[in-house]
Amino acid sequence: MYQEKVKVLWNNPAGNEYYRIGLTCHKGYSGAKPGQFIMLHFPGRMAPFLPRPFSIHRIITTQGRTEGIELLYKVVGEGTKLLSGHRKGDVVNTLGPLGNGFIFSNHYKRIFIVAGGIGVAPMLFLAVYLQTKGTDPSECTVFLGGRSKDDLLCSDDFLRMGMKIHLTTDDGSAGDRCFVTHPLETTIENYRPDIIYACGPLEMLKCVAGISEKHTVPCQVSIETIMACGMGACLGCAVERKEASGNYMHACIDGPVFDASALHL
Ligand SMILES: Cc1cc2nc3c(=O)[nH]c(=O)nc-3n(C[C@H](O)[C@H](O)[C@H](O)COP(=O)(O)OP(=O)(O)OC[C@H]3O[C@@H](n4cnc5c(N)ncnc54)[C@H](O)[C@@H]3O)c2cc1C
Ligand code: FES
Repeated sequence: MYQEKVKVLWNNPAGNEYYRIGLTCHKGYSGAKPGQFIMLHFPGRMAPFLPRPFSIHRIITTQGRTEGIELLYKVVGEGTKLLSGHRKGDVVNTLGPLGNGFIFSNHYKRIFIVAGGIGVAPMLFLAVYLQTKGTDPSECTVFLGGRSKDDLLCSDDFLRMGMKIHLTTDDGSAGDRCFVTHPLETTIENYRPDIIYACGPLEMLKCVAGISEKHTVPCQVSIETIMACGMGACLGCAVERKEASGNYMHACIDGPVFDASALHL
């Protein structure tokens, strides 16, 4: 884990309220796993007081050397608004890589990736990682959902990798007009995957976990709780265990990726 002052390499609008920001980083990030995150803070500023968690979206490499990380973020409040105003050369504080990340097994041949809205941020890194593990992209299916077409990010990246993709929007402006869990449910009935990886809003994750349980397919979910420290100190990111009511794990150190069957979602 590295605590660093890092430079902004770029901070480009990606449509709607979304941005991609490139940051320099320690070369140790070459070992980061998809699903891991960083805590980002603004040096010399009182507000926002607490750092903010962001998933690693991409490792930036030049000729095989790790040069930085890219984050994909949505402006939702004070911290992300402030971040969106940063320019090349500005400095931010980072702590990471944090958390556990998605677990891959060589037994996973047929893979479903489910992403809702900004939940796609760690999933592109996951897709790239799966390729490095030798998975056949034609056996990977991505279910990408958003409120409207502007909330469907990275679909071209998944397609370029040769993965199949199902797009859904709440308003029907792109793909099918339904929740992303609808094509997941219909596809799974005829085409059972070895693993489901999911990240997105809690309601979506609840539904994905229910589908995985019904079809007895293993499922890993990345949980986006409110986080204040990212290191197990504040206990603000508690998530309840399924089999032990009142017994909690913490998303920052035990997660943010969990086996869906272990959580009371
Ligand atoms: C492990 C992890 C990884 C994350 N990865 C990303 C990412 O890659 N890209 C990205 O855009 N966001 C990501 N988030 C969410 C991101 O941390 C929040 O959007 C951010 O902290 C909001 O800060 P703010 O100061 O702009 O908003 P605030 O002013 O703090 O809050 C504005 C609104 O957003 C809500 N909010 C705050 N945090 C969250 C959250 N975690 N989930 C849902 N709603 C929240 C608040 O309740 C409030 O309604 C991640 C969160 C976690 C825990
Ligand atoms: S964010 Fe502080 S304990 Fe998890």
